[in-house]
Amino acid sequence: MKFIFFSLFPFLLFATSDFITPMEYASQLYKNPRGIGCQKCHGNNGEGMLIAKYMHKNRKKSFVAPQINNIAFDEFYKTINSRTKGMPRYFLTKQEIKALYFYLHPNDKKKVKDVK
Ligand code: HEC
Repeated sequence: MKFIFFSLFPFLLFATSDFITPMEYASQLYKNPRGIGCQKCHGNNGEGMLIAKYMHKNRKKSFVAPQINNIAFDEFYKTINSRTKGMPRYFLTKQEIKALYFYLHPNDKKKVKDVK
């Protein structure tokens, strides 16, 4: 019995090492992408969110972060590393942007497969 325990012990240690799945990595990157987390504006799953309402020249306006879990990869890629109105600029690698895209389409294998 002791023998079995000691011969399995190294494997038990290995099983608890801090290996993370691609989805865990992607989810962490979405929340902490070297800058303000995407979820603060676009919501936890990229569903989009109303950030603020304000008055401008006596008109009611709203500042909205659009839904981002329904667009093609090309468009997604372009926006993240370019200057846009209201969205902070990020400096993410293509690999990181792919991971974010993967995070936003957990059930859409076809969409993620089109990513080059
Ligand atoms: C401070 C709030 C804020 C944060 C944080 C933010 N965004 Fe945005 N995002 C916006 C706003 C506002 C727009 C709309 C910009 C426009 O209309 O020009 C936008 C637009 C986009 C678009 C284009 C959507 C479309 O339909 O064309 C994508 C893609 C996007 N954001 C992805 C991200 C990702 C990924 C992150 C995290 C790395 C992120 N955003 C973080 C506010 C934010």
